[in-house]
Amino acid sequence: MIIFKKQTDIRVYLKRLEAIGIGFVPTMGALHEGHLSLIRQAKKENDLVIVSIFINPTQFNNSEDYTKYPIKVESDIKMLTEAKVDILFMPSKEEIYPEEKDLNNDNFDFGTLEQVLEGKMRKNHFKGVAQIVSILLNTVEPHKLYLGQKDYQQYLIIKMLIQQLNKKVTIVLCPIVREAKGLAMSSRNVRLSPKAHLEANNIFKALTYLEEHKSEKLEEVSRKAKEIITQSNIADLEYFEVVDKNTLSPLLSIEKGNTLACIAVKIDGVRLIDNILL
Ligand code: PAJ
Repeated sequence: MIIFKKQTDIRVYLKRLEAIGIGFVPTMGALHEGHLSLIRQAKKENDLVIVSIFINPTQFNNSEDYTKYPIKVESDIKMLTEAKVDILFMPSKEEIYPEEKDLNNDNFDFGTLEQVLEGKMRKNHFKGVAQIVSILLNTVEPHKLYLGQKDYQQYLIIKMLIQQLNKKVTIVLCPIVREAKGLAMSSRNVRLSPKAHLEANNIFKALTYLEEHKSEKLEEVSRKAKEIITQSNIADLEYFEVVDKNTLSPLLSIEKGNTLACIAVKIDGVRLIDNILL
C-alpha cells in the first residue's frame, strides 16, 4: 500500500496510470468492520482501491466531538494493508485547509435535505461533509464512490453534490454492518461504557420492532418502538422519524419500499445514529 499525504503527489501518481477503474472509500479512520465491508466491495469492483483517512474539522458542530474523535493510525494502516488497499490518502488539516478562510463552507446548499434529521441537530454538518467530499473527489477522481447506509442522509447529500458538481461518479451504497446484538458499528462505540453498550442494543430492537409491525398503524408502532429506547434511563432520544427515503419528509404511514426509519440517541452522552429501510 502506498501512503500519500499531499494532494499534488497523489494526483501526479494517478495521472501516470493508464485509464483504470478507481474505487474510493472516504473515511475518518478508527476503522472497523463497517468500513472494511465498503473496502471489500470496492476491491471486488475496481482495479485500484483508494481509501482516505481525514478527520474533517468543518463537519463537526461540536468541538468536543471533534477533539474526542478516536485516532488509531497504526491499527488503521495494518487493517488497510491486510485488506490489500492500494492507496491510502492521509492528508493533514493544513494540507486540506491551508488558510483560515478555506474552512468556510457557506457556498454549499442542499435545501431541505440538509435542514432535517441530522442537519437539524448538527448545524452546517452536511455543508462540511460536502466540502471535504468535493475536495477528495477532485483529488482522487474515482469512478465509483463507496458509502454506507449507516449515514443514509449523508448518502443523499453526496448524491445531490455529485449532481451539482456534474461529476461522473457512481455511488455504491453498502448495507449497515452490525455487532452480534445488532448495534450498528461506529467509531464512536469505543466511547460507550459496558452498561451503555448493552442499552445501545435497544436501538436495533426498536428498528426491528418497526420492521416486524410495518403493516400496522404507524402512530401506534412508532410509540412502542420509541418506548423500547426510552425505557433506559441513560438514553436521551433526539429523534425517531419515519420519512420518505428520497426527500426525507415525514410520512403518515409506512409506504413499503419507499420508507426510511431513522433514530438519533445519546446514550450516556455518546451520540449514536441508526436507520432501516422499510
Ligand atoms: P466515517 O464515519 O469514518 O464513515 C466512513 C464510511 O463508512 C461512511 O460511508 C459510513 O456510512 C460508512 N460506515 C460507517 N459505519 C458503518 C457501518 N456500521 N456499516 C456500513 N457502513 C458504515 O462518514 C464519514 O466518515 C465522513 O462523513 C466522510 C464521508 C469520510 C467525510 O468526512
